[in-house]
Order: sequence, then C-alpha cells, then structure tokens
Amino acid sequence: MKAPKLCVALDLPTKESNLTLAQSLKIHSKNLWLKVGLRSFVRDGKEFLKELRNIGDFKLFLDLKLYDIPNTMLDTLDEIHKLGIDMLTIHASSGVKAMKALAQYKQETPNAPLIFAVTALTSFDEETFTQIYNAPILNHARNMAVLAYTSGCDGVVCSCFESKAIKEATHESFLTLTPGIRPFGEESSDQKRVADLAFAKEAKSDFIVVGRPIYKAQDPKGVVTKILESLQS
Ligand code: C5P
Repeated sequence: MKAPKLCVALDLPTKESNLTLAQSLKIHSKNLWLKVGLRSFVRDGKEFLKELRNIGDFKLFLDLKLYDIPNTMLDTLDEIHKLGIDMLTIHASSGVKAMKALAQYKQETPNAPLIFAVTALTSFDEETFTQIYNAPILNHARNMAVLAYTSGCDGVVCSCFESKAIKEATHESFLTLTPGIRPFGEESSDQKRVADLAFAKEAKSDFIVVGRPIYKAQDPKGVVTKILESLQS
C-alpha cells in the first residue's frame, strides 16, 4: 500500500513563527509539503512563499479554496502558477465549467500546480452540513468528486470517511487529500470528521494535512519524525 504524503499546515499567528517551524522541519523537507492557508497568505503573501523555498526542498501547497466565476478562477490560477506553487485548492461547488477551464489550463501549461477540489469541509458534521446542503455528507462529497474527476482535476479534499468511496466512484488514481487528521488520537478541536494515521492509510488517503497536532506540540520536529515513520510502517 502506498503511504500518504504529509502536508504540514503553517497556521501559526506570525510569519516568523511559521518560518521557525519550517526551519525546524528542514531535515525532512524532501518528504514534506507545506500548506500555506488563507491566514498566512493574506498576511505574508508572495514574500513568505519565497522565504519558504529558500529554507529547503519543500513542496508548496496554497490552500486558498477558490470559489468564483470560471474566468476569475482561471486568471487567478495563472497568477498562482507564476508563484511556483505545487498544489492549489478550489471548491468543487464552483462548478464543472470552472473546473474544466482550470484542467485545460493545466494541460497547456508545464509545471502548473495540482488542482484539488474541496468536496465538504471537515469541520462539518451531518447536522451542520444538512443545514447548508440538504444532503448527507457522503453522497454530496461523492457527487462533487465525480464531477471533479470528470472535469479533469487531480484530486479532491475530503475526510478519511469519504476517501475510499470516492476512489470507488472515480478511479484508484484519483487523489484524495484528507485534513482533520489527529495522528495519534489528539484533541479534535473544531474538526468534526477526524481520523488517525492508521485510519488514513486504511482509507487510501494520498495526502494528509496536519496542523495543530504538529505546531502546538512541544517538539514539532519530533512529531513529524514520528508521523513519517508511522506512515512508512
Ligand atoms: O489544525 P488542523 O490539523 O485541524 O488543521 C487542518 C488544516 O487543514 C487547516 O489549515 C484547515 O484550514 C485545512 N482544511 C481543513 N478542512 C478542509 C480543507 C482544509 O481542515 N476541508
């Protein structure tokens, strides 16, 4: 079985603290993806991405979850590509036309980022999800994933609870990226659909995202080492 790749969420409150975290993980840089989310990107922008690249061979994942009209998303993807990003998130609910336009851009553009479409945020439980979408999470996530797959996206963002069903409904090679990971059963905080590493492997997740269990730990590098070892075992 292929081990999931680890994405570390850089969600700390200052640029300096995120850079210190990245520095401390430099030894693992070839095996790590760094996830820059809305908070960091809004505050620290392009310069921050450059500084991360200067630290090591990390892959960079820009988690902006784009949701807009197709033309705006396409223009934004073009700008993001110029930043040398390796992976980008969008919302699948922005529609087939938008996803197809981005997939087409990728086909025509060497080294364009991987595109992952968000199906259902992991902070939803069934009750809060139904309030908004009037559908069970699994059905909705699977439908969104089929649309993302047929539109040409590289994969989807989902929880470990939907990952296997999504692969069954699309293709084994269609990638799943799963946040809401509590590697060794840590506190779930605002996440609702959480899973540990064993579950993530069993769910055939291709990428796992871990934030607080790493950056809030006394020894983030130690936690990352332990996660990487556990993913390989
Ligand atoms: O701290 P924690 O491990 O819960 O962080 C999860 C990260 O993954 C956060 O940066 C959050 O924005 C992101 N994310 C998520 N659920 C999604 C997509 C992204 O939690 N569906």
